[in-house]
Amino acid sequence: MMNVCVIGAGYVGLTTAAVLSDLGHKVCCVDKNQEKIERLNRGEVTVYEPGLDEKIDRNRLADRLHFSEKVSEKISEADITLIAVGTPPSPEGGSDLTAIDEATDALARSIRNYTLILTKSTVPPGTNERIEQALLKKGLDHALFDLVSNPEFLREGTAIEDTLHPNKIVVGMKNRGLVDTVKILYRGIDAPYIMTTFEGAEMIKYASNAFLATKISFINELARICDAYNVDIGDVAAGLATDPRIGPHFLSAGLGYGGSCLPKDVSALEYAALQKQVVPVLLDAVKRINQSQIDVYIKKLEHELLNLRDRQITVWGLSFKPNTDDTRSSAAIRLIKRLSEKGCHVQAYDPEASETETEVVRIEDLYDSLEGSDALVIATDWDQFKQADWAEVKKRMKGNVILDGRNCINAQVVRSHDLCYVGVGRR
Ligand code: UGA
Repeated sequence: MMNVCVIGAGYVGLTTAAVLSDLGHKVCCVDKNQEKIERLNRGEVTVYEPGLDEKIDRNRLADRLHFSEKVSEKISEADITLIAVGTPPSPEGGSDLTAIDEATDALARSIRNYTLILTKSTVPPGTNERIEQALLKKGLDHALFDLVSNPEFLREGTAIEDTLHPNKIVVGMKNRGLVDTVKILYRGIDAPYIMTTFEGAEMIKYASNAFLATKISFINELARICDAYNVDIGDVAAGLATDPRIGPHFLSAGLGYGGSCLPKDVSALEYAALQKQVVPVLLDAVKRINQSQIDVYIKKLEHELLNLRDRQITVWGLSFKPNTDDTRSSAAIRLIKRLSEKGCHVQAYDPEASETETEVVRIEDLYDSLEGSDALVIATDWDQFKQADWAEVKKRMKGNVILDGRNCINAQVVRSHDLCYVGVGRR
């Protein structure tokens, strides 16, 4: 059993803290946001993540998991401290490392006994070296700490499962012996260890997200070509998936990728490349395809409705993907903005989405949201939408256009209800 401090009570921090306490460690998750800590101490889980509330409750009751705003105090008591703070995009396209710098300050101030520091936050190449140098410059004796880069690969919506069953544990370090302590921390988690340098670990994280984004933009570009040749992109994806060198995942065409990670990490990697005078041609194309994917759908809607001005459109789905309330960089929100600019009146339904910065009329009931609409756009592939009662949909709408922005609906079933189904690269 180890005394663990997790800095940052966001998605990664909370999930990691919950799982580590489940593995038997004594964990304190700290955050300078006092209100967030108070809510967590009242038993309110501040993010929507299936299964997380139950895991947090159980470990709080067992006295293995605590929340505190006393960052320094809890760091000073820990054998291991994990940095799990946010690294949002900076205005220039890189990463805003303010929270990393604050965590570094807190570590330099607070460490009294030897502590192993693990960086879980996604950080640009060179950041762990920068953290180590900053700690030394601030007067922390190197005998009192070691630093390891240990990026996180969990997905929102399946965060617990991904943390308990990762496909790898990446450990970037200067002294390979440190992996033994990391293995004690993750005892009970069965995954291959990839051992590398600080920068190697930082790059594996960016490379993973950039590759996933590339797969999505590839299939989206292909879907445009399939549209032109009247080919079903689903058939093409199924054909690709059988080749083990390609694999079946991340080949669903649609409105494009969103969320707090893929868009930010593609940009941050591009920025990091440019900093060293490397021109990232492919990453730029991946981004451009993703941005212009919304235009493809707007054109399809214009084709069906002729004129978008004053049309009433219902959008199902606001979160960037199903099983999360997260709307950061959501393609659904970008689509709604474009529809509003075109003069549409938009009303939306989402089972969980948090508040969005875009003003949109939210309707609390799936079918009420269709009242008087000329078209329905499915922007997020929640199960609830896939199982919709299309007879009821037909009854409630004024028009009959169903634009499937995730290619997730059974087109035959929809058409059998006298509705006009439109997907991308779909016959
Ligand atoms: C992503 C990575 O998948 C995680 O491995 C990583 O740890 C995480 O970022 C992170 O860096 O923290 P996440 O942002 O939760 O996870 O979302 P994904 O499941 O990757 O989905 C991203 C976007 O791609 C969603 O908008 C989704 O709708 C879209 N997508 C996904 C497609 O358009 N097509 C696909 O075939 C798959």
